[in-house]
Amino acid sequence: MSDSTVGEAVRSTAKVTDAPNGAAISPRAHTALERLGIASSPELRALLPRLIVTVAAWKGGVGKTEIAKELAYLLDGVLVDLDWDEGGATRNWGYRHEARTTAPLLDALDSGRVPRPLSGGGVRADLIPSHPDFAINQPAADRMATTLEHWSQALGRPLVIDTHPGGVPSTMGAVGAAHVVVVPVNLETRALRATEGMAQELQGGFPLLFVLNRVEAAPESELKQLEKLSEMFDIPVGPVVSSHAFLKRRKLTMAVCAPGRSGEIPARAAEFVGEMHDVAKRVLETAVLNARAQAEGETEDQHV
Ligand SMILES: Nc1ncnc2c1ncn2[C@@H]1O[C@H](COP(=O)(O)OP(=O)(O)OP(=O)(O)O)[C@@H](O)[C@H]1O
Ligand SMILES: [Mg+2]
Repeated sequence: MSDSTVGEAVRSTAKVTDAPNGAAISPRAHTALERLGIASSPELRALLPRLIVTVAAWKGGVGKTEIAKELAYLLDGVLVDLDWDEGGATRNWGYRHEARTTAPLLDALDSGRVPRPLSGGGVRADLIPSHPDFAINQPAADRMATTLEHWSQALGRPLVIDTHPGGVPSTMGAVGAAHVVVVPVNLETRALRATEGMAQELQGGFPLLFVLNRVEAAPESELKQLEKLSEMFDIPVGPVVSSHAFLKRRKLTMAVCAPGRSGEIPARAAEFVGEMHDVAKRVLETAVLNARAQAEGETEDQHV
């Protein structure tokens, strides 16, 4: 597969246009491509409504939630929060389980019904919120994966799944269901060790994409270590997200990538927003490639 065909599938343009061939683009997919400034293509039109992106890492605090909520907003998708810890995506979104009588994630798993995402009002992603009891009520990996595939099919929108750190059953299920698994990587000794453990445990079969996060400098030995991991396990390294001090103290529930009332991104957030756009484009590019490879593999299987 040449780079030019990938570039064609995800090509930057000032204006979203509908390709002359193929199905019409859904309004939601149109919003996603417009947010990212990407041209529509038949492959993207087919992929977006069924796209599943999981954000996972074996180490806590590396930026899973930050990246997941921004990706979900940019793709006009549904943020599925599978992390039960306080301080995760659900709380950050402004949802307080204490104030609710229902628990959408637990209720959906109990009943087998598809949860209705809460609206983010166009300034943050729509959400399927988590619940503290998910810690002891999470299904086995296989069932979690099947459930997410079912939700994806029923909702017809991209799902971006935030996960609990480590290889717990719900995270393994989300990894198994994904077209792309975004793995935030911090260039620090312990974080890299955890990344190596994750790559070793998941080796083969899972479409991981490393995204360097909270990068302040480019320490040579840590970069070499990551390069080695990338080569050894054949895991591509995606765009870099720098360290942005404002993120740690941010109280707003709206996505950083959502323009405020003024329609402008504040100057201090502009670099992070640009970096997140690059991550989202790379995720789409990778998903298109993975979907193609999967389709080719299935065709070959039929000929054996
Ligand atoms: N690029 C960045 N620059 C600066 N701070 C960041 C960046 N990415 C994330 N952070 C901050 O680091 C902290 C941890 O990030 P986050 O909560 O996204 O990590 P996590 O991997 O989801 O953690 P956990 O495993 O606890 O769920 C947060 O305060 C977040 O705002
Ligand atoms: Mg988190």
